[in-house]
Amino acid sequence: MKGKILIVDDDTAHLSMLQTVLKSIPHLIECVTDGEDAIRAAREKPYDLILMDVRMTNIDGMEALQKIKELNPSIPIIIMTAYSTVDKAVEAMKLGAYDYLTKPLNLDELKITIERAMKHLQLFVENARLKEKISSELSFLGIIGSSPSMKEVIDIAKIAAPTGATILITGESGTGKELFAKAIHNNSNRRKKRLVSVNCAALNETLLESELFGHEKGSFTGADKQRRGLFLSADQGTIFLDEIGEIPMLMQVKLLRAIQEREIQRVGSDKTIKVDVRIVVATNKNLEDEVKKGNFREDLFYRLNVINIRVPPLRERKEDIPLLAQNFLTKHTRENRKNLKGFTPMAMDALTKYQWPGNVRELENTIERAIILSMGQYISEKDLPTTVMKKYQPGDSFQKQISGIGGKSLDEVESIAIIETLEQTGGNKTEAAKILNITRTTLNNKLKKYRLNTLEFSKHSYRPSKHNVSQ
Ligand SMILES: Nc1ncnc2c1ncn2[C@@H]1O[C@H](COP(=O)(O)OP(=O)(O)O)[C@@H](O)[C@H]1O
Ligand SMILES: [Mg+2]
Repeated sequence: MKGKILIVDDDTAHLSMLQTVLKSIPHLIECVTDGEDAIRAAREKPYDLILMDVRMTNIDGMEALQKIKELNPSIPIIIMTAYSTVDKAVEAMKLGAYDYLTKPLNLDELKITIERAMKHLQLFVENARLKEKISSELSFLGIIGSSPSMKEVIDIAKIAAPTGATILITGESGTGKELFAKAIHNNSNRRKKRLVSVNCAALNETLLESELFGHEKGSFTGADKQRRGLFLSADQGTIFLDEIGEIPMLMQVKLLRAIQEREIQRVGSDKTIKVDVRIVVATNKNLEDEVKKGNFREDLFYRLNVINIRVPPLRERKEDIPLLAQNFLTKHTRENRKNLKGFTPMAMDALTKYQWPGNVRELENTIERAIILSMGQYISEKDLPTTVMKKYQPGDSFQKQISGIGGKSLDEVESIAIIETLEQTGGNKTEAAKILNITRTTLNNKLKKYRLNTLEFSKHSYRPSKHNVSQ
């Protein structure tokens, strides 16, 4: 990849030296001599990488770094700093710098760091592309799920949607039953007509009947106007009867007739009216059990249970959690006008381990709340409710991953990386340099700097106790 690099340094001699030595790399190089110009340039042109001095008159590198990151969070910025100001490098890394180099620059290290940053950007672009692809392929009209169990139900829904068949959607509360009903309607040839949703649990027997089938004027007290009813409103479209397990026995008979005969009767009228409605129903109850208990008519159950979509609870498809979480973060961050980039590893770990009795709905609420509470760029475990964190215990691998580097200086982190890699390679420097993506010369310099001796990394190696972080 031929990229575009911006170099920022107020020391013009250093700038022209860099321009000369970087002639051999395949990228275009532009230079500016202060922070203001750097910000302007970054706003006007799409650079792939910025190499910036920390100490400059006018706006210093730190401030420019922050402003540029605000403009373009994905651009890698490499900071150049004098040995005496390595603390600046720590600060810069915290502000999102990609890497730092100490002056005087080691030219091999410089070129390698540039190439690595370019690759990093490519990866970033690739990731964004993948994310896009995943979201379009793995979502069936907004239903996110890549777990095998979700893929299976989504496949059934995809096939069933255009057939016009009656569909029974079952699953715990908050698993996405209503979302499925919408997706089914929108993937059927009735999509241009209405999808009418009725919550059967919210209405008593009389109201439910007149709501569904309509009534004549004066047919009961309070019926001062004629009403067409929701079945007729959904003519040529779809009616979604949510919480179908709650409808009273007498209504079950009337509903069965409506489905079988494809006609309805208004309350207070003996005339029958033809309707053409697709029926989709949902319940969090086990209807077979309800039939056995005598609470649900068996004949109606069989009429409804033509195609059954069983939406699994979230705890049985935990691999969907990261994708769902990221999706809700994007969705609600936009609404709340916050600039959140993602989750800390521990927050994500906690989200994936929780049991989610309220399923996807609870996950969505949790993330919405965390977005509001969050003060940083990443949702952290502190932004999650106690219900989620109460039983949470970071796993072994996770502890290992995070315990080593938190709160350490960059030098310490660097030396840990070197020690662990040398241990891996049994003291082989060429091998270690390759893994660390630095030259042997750089590795030697760093070994000197940290006073490390490779002879000590043979098979049964020593490990300096102060670096002994993961056990
Ligand atoms: N697979 C999913 N992908 C994206 N959003 C989902 C998914 N499942 C559920 N949701 C969201 O979770 C919330 C609850 O879903 P809903 O369909 O009302 O559940 P149910 O009807 O089963 O109680 C809704 O905001 C819905 O958009
Ligand atoms: Mg619902």
